[in-house]
Amino acid sequence: MYLYLNGEIRDGKDVNISPFDRGFQFSDGVYEVIRYYPSIFFELQAHINRLKYSLKEIGIPAPPLEEIAPILSDLISKNDLKDHPSIVYIQISRGYQYPRRHAFVNSGSPTFFISVEKFSANREAMMNGVCAGLEEDIRWHRCDIKSTSLIPNVLSSQRAGSKGYAEIIYHRNGFITEGAHTNICFVKNNSLITPPLSNFILAGITRKIVLEICAKTGIIYSEENVPVGRVKDFDEILLLGTTTEITPVIEIDGVKVNSGIPGPVCRTLQSEYRKLY
Ligand code: PDD
Repeated sequence: MYLYLNGEIRDGKDVNISPFDRGFQFSDGVYEVIRYYPSIFFELQAHINRLKYSLKEIGIPAPPLEEIAPILSDLISKNDLKDHPSIVYIQISRGYQYPRRHAFVNSGSPTFFISVEKFSANREAMMNGVCAGLEEDIRWHRCDIKSTSLIPNVLSSQRAGSKGYAEIIYHRNGFITEGAHTNICFVKNNSLITPPLSNFILAGITRKIVLEICAKTGIIYSEENVPVGRVKDFDEILLLGTTTEITPVIEIDGVKVNSGIPGPVCRTLQSEYRKLY
């Protein structure tokens, strides 16, 4: 496997990162996950913009991200993935610092890492829907930053898996925020409702595209807070994300969403989304 690290693409066995990297010691870094649908990097500019935002918010100097497209193409080619749907993982940490101190030294140089991996969408989940569970959102108050500090999300995802759920849906102060690795939207009487952008959710790129599709196709939508108690009243519930695309939820905490069958708004959004890649 070929990997990119700090300006060079190398065989994975020749790639080393120091154990004193702040990414390893403090999860002091940010990341992006981008889909490669042969032959496009889907919404690349939107991912670059969000990565720049995350870097700015935590004070890591941005590497020259506008020049990333040829690097990604090179990585895909070297890994023989040109004809395969794949994902790109980009991580930038604050870099090496010794001795270990919580506060960072501004002169440090970031560690810039990229990997690519063969990845196919879970068509069965998109077609038939998935089960999800609810949990209190105990994450920090800056979920708008795509930070690699993901312990709450990791533990929720683990619990989800052990219960046969595809996702955990979070609520904070009585309102739905997002999933552990997805945004969420709801449908009532053919209108779509999604929680507004705030420091409590990631500004998802799939969410942005779904709202654009609504505007284009005439689906009425609003960005509104949804009380957790209302979750079971909706006609449709959809998970949105780079890896998840648009996946219907058919059961929450063991209770069926409507009749437990994916609905018409889901199907319209899925077919419009697929036209984009
Ligand atoms: N997750 N919310 C959270 C907490 C996420 O981690 C993600 C994406 C999303 C959806 O954002 P987007 O549509 O831009 O992918 C929302 C990525 C895919 C991951 O961690 O693997």
